[in-house]
Amino acid sequence: MSEALSTRFQQRGFECAESRPEPCGIVIFGPLGDLTRRKLLPSLFHLLRRGLMPDDWFILGCLTRGEPLTDEAFREQVRLTLAADAARAPAGLLDDFVRRCFFQGGGAADPAFYRSLGARLDALGGPSGMGARRLFYLAVPPTLYEPIVTGLGKAGLGRLPKGHPGWNRVIIEKPFGRDLASAKALSQAVGDALDEEQVYRIDHYLGKETVQNILVLRFANTIFEPLWNRRYIDHVQITVAEALGVEHRGGYYEEAGCLRDMFQNHMVQMLTLVAMEPPARFEAGQYRDEKIKLLRSIRPFPDDPTALGGHVVRGQYTAGTAGGVEVPGYRAEPRVSADSSVETYAAMRVSIDNWRWKGVPFYLRSGKRLPRRISEIAITFRDVPHSMFSTFNDGAMPPNVLVLNVQPEEGISLTVEAKQPGPKTCMGSLTMRLDYRSVFGVEVPEAYERLLLDCMNGDQTLFVRTDALEAAWELLTPVLAAWEDTGNGPSRAPLRQYPAGSWGPAEADDLLRDDGRCWRTP
Ligand code: BG6
Repeated sequence: MSEALSTRFQQRGFECAESRPEPCGIVIFGPLGDLTRRKLLPSLFHLLRRGLMPDDWFILGCLTRGEPLTDEAFREQVRLTLAADAARAPAGLLDDFVRRCFFQGGGAADPAFYRSLGARLDALGGPSGMGARRLFYLAVPPTLYEPIVTGLGKAGLGRLPKGHPGWNRVIIEKPFGRDLASAKALSQAVGDALDEEQVYRIDHYLGKETVQNILVLRFANTIFEPLWNRRYIDHVQITVAEALGVEHRGGYYEEAGCLRDMFQNHMVQMLTLVAMEPPARFEAGQYRDEKIKLLRSIRPFPDDPTALGGHVVRGQYTAGTAGGVEVPGYRAEPRVSADSSVETYAAMRVSIDNWRWKGVPFYLRSGKRLPRRISEIAITFRDVPHSMFSTFNDGAMPPNVLVLNVQPEEGISLTVEAKQPGPKTCMGSLTMRLDYRSVFGVEVPEAYERLLLDCMNGDQTLFVRTDALEAAWELLTPVLAAWEDTGNGPSRAPLRQYPAGSWGPAEADDLLRDDGRCWRTP
């Protein structure tokens, strides 16, 4: 199957809308951090390798804490970070990349730092004008978002006067706030310094190829859309399972937990893409308008913490076995409190109150230390209304299931019923798979490549608008509040335990069992 598809793909060719950005400067706050090393520098390097960086560009690493580095010392760090990628790239590419890297030190709350930053950008600008087009990437702890954005604004590096030939764009990482109130407060501070068109709230799941493909699959084909509603779909399951524990991120995770870390952003965004209506055109405004309409159709969870347990389950992993190795429980992880009540797993039933989805449950689950790393969206169709094959299996036939595999094996599969070849009528389930890697014959690019490129090109489509961000917090803040509210007695929304290496707490199964369904084993 994949050979035939791949041949057709090559014959037809593809419309491709990728364009190269104008010359610009990329200012990275947090240039030595994990995100910069693992994602940002490699993604920028891959863009250079694919010929998608501007003609002229530079990276200015801005450290707001600790000892500043010289340009040379920073370049050495970049060189080390990219060594493995450079080994697969043409000779000289790493040298070209590294010579464009510079460093500026200073304090996040120090106005003098932002003045010197402005002067440095002007000095780096050169004749191409790249110093007047600046992408600021906040790869720093969330407590620094507000001081940095405010500092930029006050130094004239935020909102620009009308007619200014350049641009300032700011990419802000998650988590954007801890709950609805703090997200609104941060939005206010951001809004004081920047217009919405300058703010790029990143959710890297939106840059994943398979997540982008959800809309293409739904709206560039006629065969799915007529079935994509309550008449034909029984329910939807969205799973993001991780095999790893919290690793070295215990400090961050203690503040976040699974709901803030995965649901407020990635899970809700994927749900939105599966369920939203089609915009008339694929452009940022219309697309984001449709997303917010969908988010506003989600039914709020019950206020009562006891009733909440019938809709949302939280869990925390205990010691267990992962990949054949004994691993500690969450409370024994580095920088995690020994009596932590932070959830490492959550599962929920989401209801959407609109014409398309009324009565179709969306089950979402995500957790750390589950049996394997897999993200998928599984759409289970309704049973056939009447089976003429009632002499087989009492007429009971498994439903069709369409699975969008987000990772690690990006692709699509569809399970259908079929007759087994032979003189007797024997039926069984058959799964057709389309694997993107073998069809397209390329490595699936890193989500950050696409998102960095879009930001340089001024395309906000795959970034989260403030109203959508707040709608996601509006949905989840009452859950967080119920979990935190233990009153004088034990919490009425208990934290369930599950051994590392299992599929989560048994109570998560009850969510579906109560509806006569069960979780898929991916
Ligand atoms: C991040 C979370 O946003 O997404 C991490 O902070 C999580 O805790 C990660 O591990 C998962 O991303 P991916 O791309 O590996 O699925």
